[in-house]
Amino acid sequence: MSKHRVSRRQFLNYTLTGVGGFMAAGMLMPMVRFAVDPVLKGEDAGDFIATPLKIADITNEPQKVNFSFTQKDAWYESEETGTAWVFKNEGGEIVALSPVCKHLGCVVDWNTDKKNPNMFFCPCHYGLYEKDGMNVKGTPPLAPLDVYPTKEKDGFLYVGKAEPRKGA
Ligand code: FES
Repeated sequence: MSKHRVSRRQFLNYTLTGVGGFMAAGMLMPMVRFAVDPVLKGEDAGDFIATPLKIADITNEPQKVNFSFTQKDAWYESEETGTAWVFKNEGGEIVALSPVCKHLGCVVDWNTDKKNPNMFFCPCHYGLYEKDGMNVKGTPPLAPLDVYPTKEKDGFLYVGKAEPRKGA
């Protein structure tokens, strides 16, 4: 018979240490995973999203294009809808502008303010932008509309992540 008898105090110590360690691991694992998971997954920025707009249908007149994409926030995924105002500039280059007003984030529309035709108009505080997305001085927005990088694939327009206009 072994002389290594476990006293009541030792038994209680082992049990509490074991249960405490188990509970601590249970609490720490989600925290570690939350912190590390997005890093391990890598950056998805730079990915282009397909839009339903055919390149051949892009004209000089801005047209509103909706597209859907999967948004990943850590490990949570949701289906989102994005919008771009798309047209060809004088040089024939495709321009895709974010509709999000740079003042307080309302949505701009094209050519809806009768007093200021052929401009992007934000109805929230009467913000105005030129066709190329430049903000009109004297109206609330202090920066130009963000610009989507664009790409053509199989005859359709693809857009990247909207970014502040370069040089703004
Ligand atoms: S949010 Fe567009 S002008 Fe204020």
